[in-house]
Amino acid sequence: MERGPKSSKRPRITDGPASANARSGVPNGPMHARPLIALLDGRDCSVEMPILKDIATVAFCDAQSTTEIHEKVLNEAVGALMWHTITLTREDLEKFKALRIIVRIGSGVDNIDIKAAGELGVAVCNVPGFGVEEVADTTLSLILNLYRRSHWLANEVAAGKKINGPEQVRDAAKGCARIRGDTLGIIGLGRIGSAVALRAKVFGFNVIFHDPYIPDGIEKSLGLTRVYSLQELLFQSDCVSLHCTLNEQNHHMIHDFTIKQMRPGAFLVNTARGGLIDETALAAALKDGRIRAAALDVNENEPYTTQTSPLRESPNLMCTPHAAWFSEQSYQELREMAAAEVRRGITGRIPDNLRNCVNKEFLHSPGMRASMNGPSMSAAAAAALASHFPMHGGGGLPLPVVPILPHPAGMTSPAVAAAAAASLAAAAAAQQQALHNSSSNNNNNNHNSSSRDKDNDSD
Ligand SMILES: NC(=O)c1ccc[n+]([C@@H]2O[C@H](COP(=O)([O-])OP(=O)(O)OC[C@H]3O[C@@H](n4cnc5c(N)ncnc54)[C@H](O)[C@@H]3O)[C@@H](O)[C@H]2O)c1
Repeated sequence: MERGPKSSKRPRITDGPASANARSGVPNGPMHARPLIALLDGRDCSVEMPILKDIATVAFCDAQSTTEIHEKVLNEAVGALMWHTITLTREDLEKFKALRIIVRIGSGVDNIDIKAAGELGVAVCNVPGFGVEEVADTTLSLILNLYRRSHWLANEVAAGKKINGPEQVRDAAKGCARIRGDTLGIIGLGRIGSAVALRAKVFGFNVIFHDPYIPDGIEKSLGLTRVYSLQELLFQSDCVSLHCTLNEQNHHMIHDFTIKQMRPGAFLVNTARGGLIDETALAAALKDGRIRAAALDVNENEPYTTQTSPLRESPNLMCTPHAAWFSEQSYQELREMAAAEVRRGITGRIPDNLRNCVNKEFLHSPGMRASMNGPSMSAAAAAALASHFPMHGGGGLPLPVVPILPHPAGMTSPAVAAAAAASLAAAAAAQQQALHNSSSNNNNNNHNSSSRDKDNDSD
């Protein structure tokens, strides 16, 4: 997509020390329009709204690609929240004209070109640490299932098979293995990898790990054995569990050749990212028994379906639907943490006031400084916002979530269109109501806004 003329680009970070380079927050006072924040690939903003409603208008797009995102959001959104069902390449990012901050509702940012975002002046943040316990517990549950075959045994019982006496049990439970003394190899000893390591030790595993990016010493604090190459880890492990982030260097790290470096009959578990495994190679290895069984929570193409995947006829395979992170508690926490980060971006300075900005180094790159003199795009965005949401300029009037759904052609359900119309009508009514009380409300809301800032600073 073509870029606009230079003068319409978003503002660049200026030369000087990091703090001076940082942009100021999104204009959001009595003199400015309310910023627009869009949830790109979802509809439910019920957790985010209470955290953001006094400082921003929140919209949802429910899009699976940027072609489904309404122009209004592309032109005016200064903040975006996103799950993992949409991908933002450089070309996608260039379509957003006012964007200053993207927060991934999750930890992996492999679906966003964070370098391009930085170069375009957009800070990308994530929520590291959410759901660590859930993913670690799920990983252990998958490992235990591979060793104890509970999933397959339960399926046989559910299918009506009667298993009676030691001989029949022996037949049905063929392949069940003892854990104590086996070696578990962890690839990537970050937050989740180390939580898995601690749990696995309790079950009697001898735990080894490979992670070239962390300094020496962690093996001593956690009581683990470190190996310095992937090959060594694969060679020693009875069960391999993947916990690294997906990046350009490790795409398909488990492929034909590295599978041959694994112990014959080893187990494989992946709760990290589907792109780490070449699924065609894994399918072949499961078929010939080179890998005894595998458990995957993540797949290269999600959602995983047994119709199209190269793994569709693989024996001894257990797949779950990228749900390792989920519990009612982690779901709530994750969304609160993501919304609080957007709030920090809107009310504070970007990136200084952000807690988990993952592309700071690109935001500060020399390439950016070269063309920093254009007028403030956020001012342009604010002007655009003011014309679309004139009432918001008064500062901080809580409004309902505004659905900004895909272009009409992309709207598949009349119910969705009706819901959109109803919410827009509610938004208009709220604006009307706000007209009557604007001056006193403005004062109150400005006050509320600053007290909320304090609340969130301590979260
Ligand atoms: N299935 C789920 O529901 C779910 C939920 C959250 C996170 N995840 C995924 O789990 C993985 C781990 O998340 P985390 O929060 O522990 O991340 P983290 O950043 O804390 O840890 C990742 C570790 O991987 C290491 N690493 C990177 N490349 C490596 C390589 N080539 N070889 C070995 N180590 C390498 C890094 O040094 C880091 O220590 C990520 O891929 C994340 O996307 C999945």
